[in-house]
Amino acid sequence: MKKNYGVNTKLIRGGLNRTPFRETSEPLFLTSGFVYDSAEQAEKIFKGVKKGFQYSRYSNPTVEIFEKRLALLDGSEACFATASGMSAVFFSLMSQLKSGDHIISSSALFGSCKEIIKNILPRYGIEITFIDGKQTEEWKKNIKKNTKIFFFETPSNPLLELIDIKKVCQIAKKNKITTVVDNIFASPVLQQPVKLGADIIVYSGTKHIDGQGRVLGGAILGSNKFKENILKPYLKHTGPSISPFNAWVLLKGLETIKIRVETQSKNTLILANFLNKHKKIEKVFYPYLKNFSQYKLAKSQQRAGGTVLSFKIKGNKKDAFKFINKLEIFDISNNLGDTKSIVTHPTTTTHRILKEQERLSLGITDNLIRLSIGLEDVEDLKNDLIQALK
Ligand SMILES: Cc1ncc(COP(=O)(O)O)c(C=O)c1O
Repeated sequence: MKKNYGVNTKLIRGGLNRTPFRETSEPLFLTSGFVYDSAEQAEKIFKGVKKGFQYSRYSNPTVEIFEKRLALLDGSEACFATASGMSAVFFSLMSQLKSGDHIISSSALFGSCKEIIKNILPRYGIEITFIDGKQTEEWKKNIKKNTKIFFFETPSNPLLELIDIKKVCQIAKKNKITTVVDNIFASPVLQQPVKLGADIIVYSGTKHIDGQGRVLGGAILGSNKFKENILKPYLKHTGPSISPFNAWVLLKGLETIKIRVETQSKNTLILANFLNKHKKIEKVFYPYLKNFSQYKLAKSQQRAGGTVLSFKIKGNKKDAFKFINKLEIFDISNNLGDTKSIVTHPTTTTHRILKEQERLSLGITDNLIRLSIGLEDVEDLKNDLIQALK
């Protein structure tokens, strides 16, 4: 694949590896293992002195097409696909950390990401510090001798808080700290943290990459050196590998991700502007709204505001539930980035795991509602919101 090809060409043709049958679509290799001509050949392949697949826990031809294609979009050198977004988050951290290390994380995180950092990592003797990641100087202030990783989501789930990727990565680089960025909300279409200095990027393929609610999947991206020396040896033996079938679905999803995310983002901005003026809404959170507190930063690091918005309805949990139950097109669910529009009540679903005080300190109140905007006609979605708000 020529480096100067445009992004659409890369998404349609990146990583293509046709079999002798010369199929048009990408081949799906549903196989756990591979067969060798001789014991000598097997020995060489397992030793790594001859190229060849060993076992689908390590790699698989279909998975490899997905990995190459995603790396082309993200801008990172290398990619390792995983079974889910959470396995990508967990293994991106665990493959690097050891007892006695310290990690600094933004506190505005998806519930399961918070659970890993707050409750799982300390079991292995890893020190943690949560900060308000929006305050760039907090990252610098909290560095210790043993700080190994900075971790953050931007935009965050569900309040769309942003982190200044470039500035935080500069602080990390100066202090020989690795940055791990959860780029799930923006997707690689709207934001490429590696170009702003980030080292490792994680994705949930379940979100925009599939974008059609079919499979779970994830990916960890970084340098070739990171993949070969740190990630691969750890993942080979611990096994969070993706099913080749799921990888095939995700690589076909990549073919349309750009047009889907761009159109969904346009729809989301229209609906955010509409809700922003509605008398029954207390506050709307969307990075590309002109009155969003981090609008300038959003404009400088994201190509659009994204496919998710959140808002606080005037009232309490009862009012939020009443509104959600009245929606006719939006599905009540917890996923996002789907072509089908989805409504979520974070307090009782995605962020249920957080203690009440912690949730409230992050601004995740009972009247908060998250919308993931799909590809339906935006006028229909607007009318659905209007009738439910009535
Ligand atoms: C910010 C963020 N990170 C990670 C994940 C986990 O992804 P998955 O559901 O594929 O495990 C999610 C899922 O909602 C998410 O929103």
